[in-house]
Amino acid sequence: MNTSIPAPSDHPGPWPARLDLLQSLTGLFLGLFMWLHMLFVASILLGPDAMWTVARFFEGYFLFGRPLPWLVSLFVAVVFALFVLHAWLALRRFPGQWRQHVAYWRHMRGMRHGDTTLWFVQVVTGFAMFFLAPVHLYLMLMHPELIGPYESADRVWSGGLWPLYLVLLFMVELHAGIGLYRLAVKWLGWSGAGRARLKRLEWAFTTFFLILGLVTLAAYVKLGIEHAPHAGEPYTPTWQRSAP
Ligand code: HEM
Repeated sequence: MNTSIPAPSDHPGPWPARLDLLQSLTGLFLGLFMWLHMLFVASILLGPDAMWTVARFFEGYFLFGRPLPWLVSLFVAVVFALFVLHAWLALRRFPGQWRQHVAYWRHMRGMRHGDTTLWFVQVVTGFAMFFLAPVHLYLMLMHPELIGPYESADRVWSGGLWPLYLVLLFMVELHAGIGLYRLAVKWLGWSGAGRARLKRLEWAFTTFFLILGLVTLAAYVKLGIEHAPHAGEPYTPTWQRSAP
């Protein structure tokens, strides 16, 4: 009798593969969302009126004629849920993967395998985000109406959130960039020269979003310092101010 054929009960079934796909899909959504999010947040670089317009747009202001901040809360709740799901799916595979990677490193002593190093970066940045991102997401969930040029700048400076954003920015940009690269390698099967080109592209995106993020954060800090004496006062767009 051939004993190498696993008994039906040993077969893992379709679920590990399904959960693996779900991890990739949630990662794809979150990674692409983070890049878009950075572009929206960076609207402050075009001036307070531009950022105010983007913030009100997501509240349906231009569609319904008045701001509906709960629309933003709803979207934050979806992102929050996907964030938790993605983290849970990653943790589920963690112990086995950790053992494999450590064994690989021991075996290859001295030799640095680029993609294995990237996996460790994902573990470290993912772990940091596990603690840092919920602080930000909870604030956005509960106070969506406090998103605006002065409101955000006050939170960043007077509310003392800039150190958290500074660390979170590096964690999220590294994690999203590497994650999207690994997804492309995994599902599109890129190898050789294609993979090397893809890696260069990934670093170009990561560097771009890191620089944009730092410049954006500096803009919120500057505005926050200027507005500190009036912290708490919301921003009124230029065209809504009554003439003196
Ligand atoms: C739908 C969900 C989200 C909304 C509505 C949102 C909104 C915002 C807003 C308005 C700011 C400007 C600062 C402020 O007002 O406090 C900001 C900054 C930031 N957010 Fe989010 N965010 C969301 C999700 C996330 C997630 C999931 C992460 C990371 C895991 C994240 C990371 C950051 C970082 C790092 C900054 C600082 C960026 C910079 O100035 O360089 N955000 N976000």
